[in-house]
Amino acid sequence: MAGDTIAVAADHAGFELKEALKRDLEAEGRVVLDLGTHSGASVDYPDFGHALAQAIAAGRAQKGLLVCGTGIGISIAANRHAGVRAAVCHDATSARLTRLHNDANVLALGARLIGPETARECLRVFLATPFEGGRHAGRVAKLA
Ligand code: RB5
Repeated sequence: MAGDTIAVAADHAGFELKEALKRDLEAEGRVVLDLGTHSGASVDYPDFGHALAQAIAAGRAQKGLLVCGTGIGISIAANRHAGVRAAVCHDATSARLTRLHNDANVLALGARLIGPETARECLRVFLATPFEGGRHAGRVAKLA
């Protein structure tokens, strides 16, 4: 169902980690929309950040996972789209706080900076943590 869809996208640097995390998500029974890339061949990270952001903006997915070498370039691309709040996280605390305080709807990971277990933990916490609302709601609204 659309409410459960997680879009995933990566460039060549993030391809392997994206594939591993996608397998985890599917093994949990989650619906995954894979927007590429589909191999380790060199590509341009903005193309995939934009594609994922467009899927979120169009309601084709409610949350997203982006992976590039650092998580930075691909998140910059995604954050140029209204309604997308992509957060680069390197640890579970960042992933938890960006959900609680920023209502981030896209997790961006750097495959060249963190290992697969840390990445898994970031994604698990990101998906399990609700937005806290309250005093944070007005601040998030100002991001629009
Ligand atoms: C690709 O070499 C690399 O520049 C990209 O994956 C990312 O780290 C950019 O921010």
